[in-house]
Amino acid sequence: MRSQLSSILALAAPLLSAVSAANPSVVVVPGAWQIDPTWEDFMALLTDAGYPTSKVTLPSVGISETGGLAADVDATAAILDPLLDAGKDVVLLAHSLGGLIAGNAVQGRDYATRQAAGKTGGVIQTIYLAAFMCPEGVSLFNMLGNEWFSWMNVTDSKVYASADEIIDVGFNDMTLAEAEKWASYTTWTSEKVFTDASLYSPWADNVTEAYIHTLLDGALPYAAQLQMEALLPEGSAVYNINSSHVAFLSQPDTLLSLIEDAIAVGVAAHA
Ligand SMILES: *[C@@H]1O[C@H](CO)[C@@H](O)[C@H](O)[C@H]1NC(C)=O
Ligand SMILES: *[C@@H]1O[C@H](CO)[C@@H](O)[C@H](O)[C@H]1NC(C)=O
Ligand SMILES: *[C@@H]1O[C@H](CO)[C@@H](O)[C@H](O)[C@H]1NC(C)=O
Repeated sequence: MRSQLSSILALAAPLLSAVSAANPSVVVVPGAWQIDPTWEDFMALLTDAGYPTSKVTLPSVGISETGGLAADVDATAAILDPLLDAGKDVVLLAHSLGGLIAGNAVQGRDYATRQAAGKTGGVIQTIYLAAFMCPEGVSLFNMLGNEWFSWMNVTDSKVYASADEIIDVGFNDMTLAEAEKWASYTTWTSEKVFTDASLYSPWADNVTEAYIHTLLDGALPYAAQLQMEALLPEGSAVYNINSSHVAFLSQPDTLLSLIEDAIAVGVAAHA
């Protein structure tokens, strides 16, 4: 029995290591307002599922009111570049504002561009989770229709989400106790990151992309998500989850399965 088991394990070991070696790394580019430990549990799920996962800390979120797009892209590059230099394939998981940042950070870091330069590894997939896709020359503020949403409040170059409204806007598919907990992990976001224009339209380029729509979203309405998703090339993977803006908090297991599917599409496109 024991020897049978060890021979089964001996057979399985190379298979298991081949699978994990093939799994890309995931880099989370988070949205506005939310601070640690908001992403911690979902990152642990991804890691347990076999995807080494790290997260960018955006200077524009509660750290630097003068930090805009460039500072956030630099912070993303600081997480991405060591992975790419080590020859890793990377999937960017962009939430909300993170879509603007990831879409700009991917320039020159996509798999095809790196291959053409004789380098290994690269960004193979960007997954937009209820995320902003801002074409070159367009800012987030432009995407809002050049008007702050009613629940946003701009004071001294900082954009606040109104404490009265944030639960209904952002956390509308969980218990009040959970919503209050997650609302307590929010802060201001710099006005500058809303008004800086995007410098790049990655969907015109070589990165495979997927969109995950959050159908009950009170922060970035589904209709607006659809308009952005329409920018993706024909045949891009598109998913729906019947959740608020923060599916990674309210429906993590369902979201994980959608993300695993999207990653498989990105891997297959670069096999
Ligand atoms: C806007 O946010 C600031 C900082 O939290 C607060 O002091 C102010 O009362 C808010 N204004 C409105 C109109 O909500
Ligand atoms: C995409 O990749 C192909 C193949 O490497 C290359 O010929 C093409 O120029 C790339 N397109 C862009 C926009 O970089
Ligand atoms: C999404 O959930 C809401 C609230 O639970 C429900 O009313 C609606 O029918 C669901 N929509 C879909 C497409 O499942």
